[in-house]
Amino acid sequence: MRRTHKCDELTVADKGKTVELIGWVQSVRDHGGVMFVDLRDREGITQIVFHPSAGEVYERAQKLRDESVIQIKGTVELREEGTKNPNLKTGDIEVDCKEMLVHNVCEVLPFPLDDDRADKVNEDLRLQYRYLDLRRPRNLNLLRARHKASAAIRNYLNSQDFIEIETPILFKSTPEGAREFLVPSRLNPGCFYALNQSPQQYKQMLMVSGVERYYQMAKCFRDEDLRADRQPEFTQIDIEMSFVDREDMYALIEGMLKKVWKEVIGVDIPTPFPRMPYFEAMNRYGVDKPDTRFGIELQDFTEVFKGSSFKVFSGAANSEGGAVKAINAKGLADITQGELKSLEDGARAMGAKGLAFIKAENGEWKSPILKFLSEAEKSALKERLNIEDGDVVFFAATDWEKACSILGRVRLDCARLLQSRGKLDIPWNKFNFLWVIEFPLMLFDEEQQRYVAAHHPFTSPVEEDIPLLDSDPLKVRGQHYDIVLNGTELGGGSIRIHNPTLQEKVFKDVLKIPADVVESRFGYMLKAFKFGAPPHGGIALGFDRLVSIITNRPSIRDIIAFPKTQRGQDLMAQSPSPVTEKQLRDLSISVNLPEETENKK
Ligand code: AMO
Ligand code: AMP
Repeated sequence: MRRTHKCDELTVADKGKTVELIGWVQSVRDHGGVMFVDLRDREGITQIVFHPSAGEVYERAQKLRDESVIQIKGTVELREEGTKNPNLKTGDIEVDCKEMLVHNVCEVLPFPLDDDRADKVNEDLRLQYRYLDLRRPRNLNLLRARHKASAAIRNYLNSQDFIEIETPILFKSTPEGAREFLVPSRLNPGCFYALNQSPQQYKQMLMVSGVERYYQMAKCFRDEDLRADRQPEFTQIDIEMSFVDREDMYALIEGMLKKVWKEVIGVDIPTPFPRMPYFEAMNRYGVDKPDTRFGIELQDFTEVFKGSSFKVFSGAANSEGGAVKAINAKGLADITQGELKSLEDGARAMGAKGLAFIKAENGEWKSPILKFLSEAEKSALKERLNIEDGDVVFFAATDWEKACSILGRVRLDCARLLQSRGKLDIPWNKFNFLWVIEFPLMLFDEEQQRYVAAHHPFTSPVEEDIPLLDSDPLKVRGQHYDIVLNGTELGGGSIRIHNPTLQEKVFKDVLKIPADVVESRFGYMLKAFKFGAPPHGGIALGFDRLVSIITNRPSIRDIIAFPKTQRGQDLMAQSPSPVTEKQLRDLSISVNLPEETENKK
């Protein structure tokens, strides 16, 4: 089965040659007397002609169905003037078919494979037939772009003296992080592995081993609620280094991303990337991963409303840690009732009790809260938010962090509305990389009523803040950094704790993990740190997210060969699926479904 050429190769220079091609029937056109087949392989398309003089081959060509796999032998001919196709690399020639072998006849397709129509097909159907959806050249090219990106990353890290090391997928349950997938151990009845959420602990152990520079394109598993940029299994570019500080990490990652952008899409991204402290990101953009491609920045009016007669605002402004924040969505005064309602729903989902607004329309301000505002308050708003006719202003009044997050969400929603009206341009190919730095080491978790690690419990505090661990843990800054691109958290990492005493203190005194739990979960780590642990740090970047942004795809499902749905299902292989009683018995497991689920089956 030897082809002489790929379907993108033949040109006028090949005129008269006898060639063999193999591929899929992209389309069949019967021009009354002459048949044309567009033959497609991974590289391109070549037009094949069947003349009646070819006899039996011509007759079989008439029965060809789209997407069947055929092999042909024929002669390269020049196309006549007027029938050339300048959009095709092989558009000046065609192959006059003399022999044909049909390898596989394609059944009627479940959906058309041309991009225009396929893009409108329900995603579930496309995922069920993922192998067909992937066959579309555009989608195959996405896999190629992914490959190019991983090749560029590997080449870069190899050139920087990194060693790629695989670490186990079957790890141990460490419930501090995301919810994990458990795997029963047949050989150890009643015991479970957990699929690794990330190779975090293994890569730190590799530093204790003296590896110095480690990387891995690591598969990670998290049983989270899924979204466009979250899959239950995904790939991290996982990195760890010894004897480095934060500046070394920034320089390494900037160099890597520069290389990837250049090699995959030919774009030069400027380095070094800007840096922004966590506090500033929250205060100006309402989120720790700001999209800085557009403004609509948050403004603070806490001082202005301290004496306000609008109790919602003055109440927040005067309370400990409270704030009144506002944004001006320029030009969005034509917002519909429905859109306003969904903005409000979004705000409520972030914990808002309501979403006060002011519309500036036809020379006047309209708002349910206008009657409560003094002239001084109005003019402060007008001046600082630059309120003009056609604008709409939104407010959040509650504690600072929540107020910021609420407006951060409203800001993004408004940007989308403005974009759909053509009033805001957010180019996909403007790449605003940003380091978000100076995160607090701990956050207070209201639900659990205790401190939790903002990143993970292995992150080192900033040296001079260590004394605050006892007195004021929330003030302690972590040596933690996130790399953010256009509003997406591309990656995060930190300089780690390598001192066993400090690590133990963080577990026990700050995170309040009971001593026996620390021992059973992290005992081996604390021990390892007593045997010559080098100072070290690392980072992990979401490889799927990186590829989806560089290829301008809205979901990471588009750039994963076999992705799962929002419900965590593989619709092609029909997974997850029930297993037999025997399999369960072997694992000493019994399944106890709630009745409802039983009935649904
Ligand atoms: P973190 O949990 O921040 O850090 O993860 C690093 C990056 O992985 C990507 N990511 C995901 N991508 C797709 N689907 C998911 N469900 C998903 N979850 C995370 C994100 C994220 O920024 N071990 C640490 C890193 C370190 O400290 O070195 C870690 O895993 O892009
Ligand atoms: P109320 O006085 O509760 O009717 O609220 C008046 C307006 O303020 C309504 O539009 C509410 O949606 C809005 N609102 C209420 N609480 C807040 C808050 N904490 N922050 C911003 N707006 C609010």
